[in-house]
Amino acid sequence: MRAKIISTGSYLPKNIATNDFLSTLVDTNDEWITSRTGIKSRHLVSEEETTASMAYEAAKKALSDANLQPEDIELIIVATCTADTLVPSTACDVQGRLGAVNATAFDLNAACSGFVFALTTADAYFQSGMYKNALIIGVETLSRIVDWEDRSVCVLFADGAGAAVVMADETGLMSASLGSDGDKCHAIYVKSRENNNPFCPGEKPMDHLYMDGAAVFKFATKTVPKSIRETLEKVNLTPDDVDLFLLHQANMRINQSIAKTLKVPMDKIPCNMDHCGNTSGASIPLLLDEANKKGLLKSGDTVVMSGFGAGLTWGTVVLKWA
Ligand code: ACO
Repeated sequence: MRAKIISTGSYLPKNIATNDFLSTLVDTNDEWITSRTGIKSRHLVSEEETTASMAYEAAKKALSDANLQPEDIELIIVATCTADTLVPSTACDVQGRLGAVNATAFDLNAACSGFVFALTTADAYFQSGMYKNALIIGVETLSRIVDWEDRSVCVLFADGAGAAVVMADETGLMSASLGSDGDKCHAIYVKSRENNNPFCPGEKPMDHLYMDGAAVFKFATKTVPKSIRETLEKVNLTPDDVDLFLLHQANMRINQSIAKTLKVPMDKIPCNMDHCGNTSGASIPLLLDEANKKGLLKSGDTVVMSGFGAGLTWGTVVLKWA
């Protein structure tokens, strides 16, 4: 039994920050951001919105799309690196909000690869026979961890949530591969709390997200096409056999480079970073829901999802759309 996606849902905060708006905060402009990244605007949370509240809204839509009740769900996995609380997990918070009383719930942190890691985790549980369905959610409140005075970072990241209900089925996920390179764990990082006990005195302000943009660009453009090819080869497919590629939405230039390396046209690689920015673990499920609602996914289509991000981590899945 493998994981089959049967429904999707998403949530984007109402607040929209355009590039022109950001140019009133830091020394930047629409032309620089658009030409370097492909981003025109992004959604940012209000005072009331949280990682858990966005995940809950996306989950409700996916459940309703699947015609399932919260109590039908056996497993909830939330992929996030911006949980509201260190404990409990966001997944438990979402479980409580939904009333998904029969679910086991936990978070998973693989940054921008998180949704693919969550999907393969559900798939492994299905293969083992332990669970028969799962609600998987990618959600981030990245605006909380960026330095709003650092123009090289604050123009990239954004907030949002995407969710999918997956069922154990004979069709669905065909192959997957995941990877990590902890040697490059400082290419993108945010420190948690500093040590704070009687042996470690002094002021300890919270840190912001740091990123080595050039290193991430090099990693993504080299590793993602390789990972996609290898995952397709496992089921005797090539990039030409794929109907749609749903890639992590970090940067338009990265996606264009991946398209060139794989020799596939950009119309097979939908992008939404122009209006969503980079939402890390939420980016693939947000794009998936958008593609689903636009009717871009047809029964029998071969779909590739590929994420890459902090860790460094990467992950690709090949699946048949039901
Ligand atoms: N507005 C205007 N100028 C800026 C801005 C800005 N927002 N940010 C940086 N600059 C300036 C720099 O100060 C620098 O000026 P200088 O030449 O006077 O020193 C100049 O622009 C060039 O800076 P670079 O950092 O070299 O810009 P680059 O062309 O490499 O683009 C970017 C930066 C977009 C981050 C690029 O490195 C990139 O695409 N990296 C990939 C990483 C990525 O997309 N990460 C997203 C998140 S990570 C993830 O999701 C896995």
